[in-house]
This record gives sequence, C-alpha cells and structure tokens, in this order.
Amino acid sequence: MTINRIELLRSRYGQSLDFDSEWHECLTTLLSHRSIRAYRPDPLPSGTLELIIASAQSAATSSNLQTWSVVAIEDVQRKAQLAALAGNQKHIQQCPLFLVWLADLARLAHIAESRGMSSAGLDYLEMFVTATIDAALAAQNATIAAESLGLGTVYIGAMRNHPEKVAAILKLPPRVFAVFGLCVGYPDSPPTAIKPRLPQSAILHRERYDLTVQDAAIAQYNEIMQNFYREQQMNVAGDWAEHSVKRIATPQSLSGRDRLREALKNLGFELR
Ligand SMILES: Cc1cc2nc3c(=O)[nH]c(=O)nc-3n(C[C@H](O)[C@H](O)[C@H](O)COP(=O)(O)O)c2cc1C
Repeated sequence: MTINRIELLRSRYGQSLDFDSEWHECLTTLLSHRSIRAYRPDPLPSGTLELIIASAQSAATSSNLQTWSVVAIEDVQRKAQLAALAGNQKHIQQCPLFLVWLADLARLAHIAESRGMSSAGLDYLEMFVTATIDAALAAQNATIAAESLGLGTVYIGAMRNHPEKVAAILKLPPRVFAVFGLCVGYPDSPPTAIKPRLPQSAILHRERYDLTVQDAAIAQYNEIMQNFYREQQMNVAGDWAEHSVKRIATPQSLSGRDRLREALKNLGFELR
C-alpha cells in the first residue's frame, strides 16, 4: 500500500487497519469523504450539475421504477427560505448549489392515471421505503461524483424538520417527500478532517450477528473520538456514546421529526 492509502485508512478509523488488496482511485475518493460546512461562492463549471445527476441516475433503482427526483436550487432567496426551515444552517445559504432529494411516487401515480390503471400499491409503506431508498442511493452516487470532481458536500437531514413547509416552497405534488438536502460547492479552506468511524468489529458480522462484541468496539471508538474532538478543537460534551444517545433520548430530540408520520400523511403517503 502507498502511504496515502495507509493514511486514509488510519484517518477513517483513528488507528491503522491492515489492508492487503487491489486499489483503485475510486477507493481514494470514497475513503476521503468528509462533510463540508463552509463554501466558496464560486459557481460550478457548466455541465457539472448534469454530470452529477447522470451519476445519480446510474445508481441501482428498485425494479427500475426510478421513484426519486431532485430539485436543484441556486436561487439565493429560496436557499434562505430552506435554511430557515433547517435550523438556519449557514452552509445551505453559502453553497452555490443545494440539491433536495425526493422520494417521488407522483410520477407512477400519474402514469397509472393516464393509462386508466389502479395505483393502489403506492399507498403501502413498502413503496414509501422503496422511494426513500432510491433517493438515498441516487444522492450518494451524486455525492461521490461531486467529491471526485473536487467539490464538497454535506447532507441536510433537517429538510425533514418541516416537511409540509419544504413541500410548499418546492411546489411538490402529493406523494412527493423531501428526504434530505445536499449542499454542493467548492470547500473553503482549511480542509476538514476525515471523521473516524466505528471499528469494523462493531458493524461487520461474519455469518451471524454477534451483539457481544459491541461493548469493546464502542469503548474503543469513544476513546478514538475523544482524541479526534480534542485534535479538531470541537466542543463536544461527553463521549460519542453519550451524545449519540442524547440524539435519540426523547421525541423532542428529533427536532420536529417526531411528527413525520403525520407529515407524510399530509403529503399524500398513506403508509398502509
Ligand atoms: C441523511 C443525513 C443527514 C444529515 N443531516 C445533516 C444536517 O442537517 N446538517 C449537517 O451539518 N450535517 C448533516 N449530516 C452530516 C453528518 O453529520 C455527517 O455525515 C456525520 O457527522 C459524519 O461526518 P462526515 O460526513 O464528515 O464523515 C447528515 C448526514 C446524513 C447522511
């Protein structure tokens, strides 16, 4: 392995990881991911959006139904409106391109209607999950494409804090839901550090799931993350386990998303 690969893997885990396999530049892009929350105002070169979307459309999609869409937003006012609904995250306004990824069952409903056919299957939770998975796979392909071009990105789950208001701003028809946003643009310096992930022993199970290995892996990760917070001068109270549990402690910890089921009903998803 070259030093670069060794360093990338070490950054991803906060410790060295023995790895003896073929390598491809694509792996360098994947392992280099970090969310970017400060952007230069420079616009994206012409054709970049279309290339990113072609990459998104190249993702696998359940039964080739393609139950997703995306809204590309460059308008300053619209970005400000969406940022206000997402806890005023400044990077939404700062990034030159904000993509809102949609679980979209309206297209299939429209096709069924125009053919005089039933679309009763769309009312089931399964189809909502399908559309959400499709949107997420497409968005992640777009993210990797953008990052391979030297652009930075950060997902914005806070698009789900006020789903109906987001839908109104984007003029979404019934059965379309904004799953998350994605800021895209050139990172402002200095470069953000790669954030370590859980040791593989916590998430990679062989042949059968094993809960007993979790505690040691989590303890190890807490230590790695505390070093990371210190190095990055991040003011994080407690360890990773503590603040992760706080994030799910009460319905109020979900930043308004505790009412997601009700919001989805209002947006035309029956979720049977
Ligand atoms: C679906 C999703 C929603 C997210 N929502 C937000 C968000 O609203 N604001 C934000 O700053 N980061 C958001 N993030 C970024 C995560 O905080 C980030 O990916 C995580 O801390 C790991 O850091 P890294 O991406 O730099 O490796 C989101 C990530 C995902 C996958």
